[in-house]
Amino acid sequence: MITPLIDPFQRAITYLRVSVTDRCDFRCVYCMSENMTFLPKKELLTLEELDRLCSTFIGLGVEKLRITGGEPLVRRGIMTFFDSMSRHLGTGALKELTLTTNGSQLKKYAQDLVNAGVKRVNISLDTLDEAKFAEITRWGRLKQVIEGIDAAQKAGLRVKINAVALKGVNDVELFDLTRWCAERDMDLTFIEVMPMGDIGNEDRLDQYWPLSDLRAQLETRFTTTDLAERTGGPARYLRLEETGQKIGLITPLTHNFCESCNRVRVTCTGEIYTCLGQEGHADLREPLRANPEHDAPLQDAIRAAIGLKPKGHDFDYSRQRTDGQMSRHMSHTGG
Ligand code: GTP
Ligand code: 5AD
Ligand code: SF4
Repeated sequence: MITPLIDPFQRAITYLRVSVTDRCDFRCVYCMSENMTFLPKKELLTLEELDRLCSTFIGLGVEKLRITGGEPLVRRGIMTFFDSMSRHLGTGALKELTLTTNGSQLKKYAQDLVNAGVKRVNISLDTLDEAKFAEITRWGRLKQVIEGIDAAQKAGLRVKINAVALKGVNDVELFDLTRWCAERDMDLTFIEVMPMGDIGNEDRLDQYWPLSDLRAQLETRFTTTDLAERTGGPARYLRLEETGQKIGLITPLTHNFCESCNRVRVTCTGEIYTCLGQEGHADLREPLRANPEHDAPLQDAIRAAIGLKPKGHDFDYSRQRTDGQMSRHMSHTGG
């Protein structure tokens, strides 16, 4: 019997988020800088290594696997990886195989994802205004993402939209975005913008829109009821009684959810980050590569890293601008 992964604060780790590439076909302002330098390909874990790594975590009790990036669907051969991971759904060891995507490649891959056992996808979409979309993503085209969403729904995937709440950008669209998702029977989750990456000319603080304010705005038009349900992720949910719609709120800043954290992240080079909002990490690539035949050293390295998982993140907009701000880009750990 395998001992489950328990961190120093008695939290069971059952959710793994794996970034399969640092690349993306967009350059969202809160996630990447315009001129990103990407890793040489040889630094990346191969798809076989990613498979072995994820399978090892599943052997240690991970039940939910979310593939992220950069944009996971730009990684060459990624469907082979999904197909291969689906064997763990078959045995029942893995309860959910899913991904967070910008939607740009879904027209091409939605059906393949369904065939691999993926049931739902989280798609990032902050605005329905073409010009704003181009401004936020720098390189993205709204039409392509909407076509991706349509393809995902047509293939039978349940879609959740993730919108980063940005004051002065999408605050004026709150009701439009809510209605648009309701019409398409899609859940919608808002995320507080986290102070990560280089800010450049933008100031994340000026765009920070606390979700307590967003909720108050929703309540001017809707009756809201808090829901007890959780999806194993950080969102808390409320229902809009008038539409029956479920709205998720991810509030790392205004309502810290670290005490119920059940997840760790692995980057595309095999670094394990046990908290999104902390710099501490450990290398899993070396134990993975040095021991192709034996998983024990890799399992030990995973347990050692989880043994150092911190209590919570350090994000904070209330201190000096340079405090509570992390230079690591969000794309490095995949959100
Ligand atoms: P569900 O399975 O739908 O609950 O997904 P999820 O919320 O776990 O995953 P998703 O990729 O949709 O997460 C949305 C965003 O929430 C991420 O991209 C991050 O920005 C943020 N987020 C997720 N987990 C954490 C976390 O542990 N800490 C913090 N601070 N933010 C997180
Ligand atoms: N703060 C909050 N969310 C972010 N994301 C990317 N960067 C940030 C940030 N600085 C979100 C994206 C996407 C997911 C991968 O992470 O919008 O939904
Ligand atoms: Fe790409 Fe997602 Fe980052 Fe935007 S938020 S640049 S779509 S990885």
